[in-house]
Amino acid sequence: MTIPIAERMTRIGTETAFAVSQEAGILARQGKKIYPFHLGDMNILTPANVMEAAIEAMKKGKTGYCPTAGIPELREAVAKDVGASHHLPLTAENVSIQPGGKPTIGKFIMAAMNPGDKVLYPNPGYPIYESQIEFHGGAGLPYGYKEGRSGFILDMEAIRKGLMAGVKILIYNNYQNPTGASSPKEEMEELARLAVENDLFVLADEAYFDIRYGGEPLSIVSFPGMADRTVILYTFSKKFAMTGWRLGAAIGPARFIENISKINVNDESCSNHFIQYGALAGLQGSSDGPDFIMATLKERRDVLVELLNSIPGIRCFQPEATFYVFPNVTAAMRRKGVPDVEEFRKLCLEETGVSFCTRRHFGRPLPGETEQYVRFAYSGIDVSQIKEGMAKLAAFLK
Ligand SMILES: Cc1ncc(COP(=O)(O)O)c(C=O)c1O
Repeated sequence: MTIPIAERMTRIGTETAFAVSQEAGILARQGKKIYPFHLGDMNILTPANVMEAAIEAMKKGKTGYCPTAGIPELREAVAKDVGASHHLPLTAENVSIQPGGKPTIGKFIMAAMNPGDKVLYPNPGYPIYESQIEFHGGAGLPYGYKEGRSGFILDMEAIRKGLMAGVKILIYNNYQNPTGASSPKEEMEELARLAVENDLFVLADEAYFDIRYGGEPLSIVSFPGMADRTVILYTFSKKFAMTGWRLGAAIGPARFIENISKINVNDESCSNHFIQYGALAGLQGSSDGPDFIMATLKERRDVLVELLNSIPGIRCFQPEATFYVFPNVTAAMRRKGVPDVEEFRKLCLEETGVSFCTRRHFGRPLPGETEQYVRFAYSGIDVSQIKEGMAKLAAFLK
């Protein structure tokens, strides 16, 4: 007998970047030297005081269940941290601690979207938006990014079209994965204005809010009329190099956050108890914390962008945030006579060991897209390996 699988499972997506990781893993086991630019994971250690505080909490018996929305001290600390950076009067009531940043996406959609509702989401973008929208019976309307003068900019035309089609929810990821885009103030202001005018509910995915190399931090939630209609996805994963710890938060209007916490009770009861004390120590400051992490990432970004731009046929912006770059490789593909970007990726991997994702790992290409892009993550590879990998890629693409 074949056990029937529920119909909704035909609508759930995945992160195909993990498939690239597997492919690279197979080659590595066969003895091939791999330069891992495919996954947004980190090879930087979690700050020592975060680890010590978590171990101490364990020893003190913080090994049982804790409140479903998180320990009050951490909720308050997150409210204070995000309240200060976003100029908002946040309190613990506005914060629901989550096992990672990712759970906020599905829980937001479950709590905000009815089946059939239209949702604007970025494409190229983090693939979990589309997966969760479709899984829960919504209708996703993708909007893209275009090359501007110094970075990627929102395709406002696509957003306006979506609004005319009766969109209820907007998912907005600034600072953006995979393009590395940072919205200039005017762009964000316009988006906020449209959200208020069209009475949208907004998920602001701010997984990379603290991964900035310059400029003033900007959040859509800080614009007039936005605080009551926006939920922020917050995560400890990147800021404190804690990807495997699984800790984050949903931050927003108290009434909505209460509902998110009801889903916590149903899904996981509470987030891991003792690691919340580790995160609390991180927020109180560490010598090898965010400043050290950002200095490490910045050096990698500078080296990678310069080397990519020195390769004929590759054009790459230098993003002000995130740990991704999204170079245009259309000319390099043409030079090699490879018309398909996935084929190009596989060829580069096999011939040079340089492993990266392509635009296709971040959503189905949109009508009218002609340029080809790939994504390099530099969070899990040291400068010496970046240089070695880029030398091999340059030699291959010459
Ligand atoms: C845009 C974006 N949102 C959310 C997440 C999820 O973060 P976490 O690992 O904390 O669940 C990621 C992770 O890479 C991401 O890139």
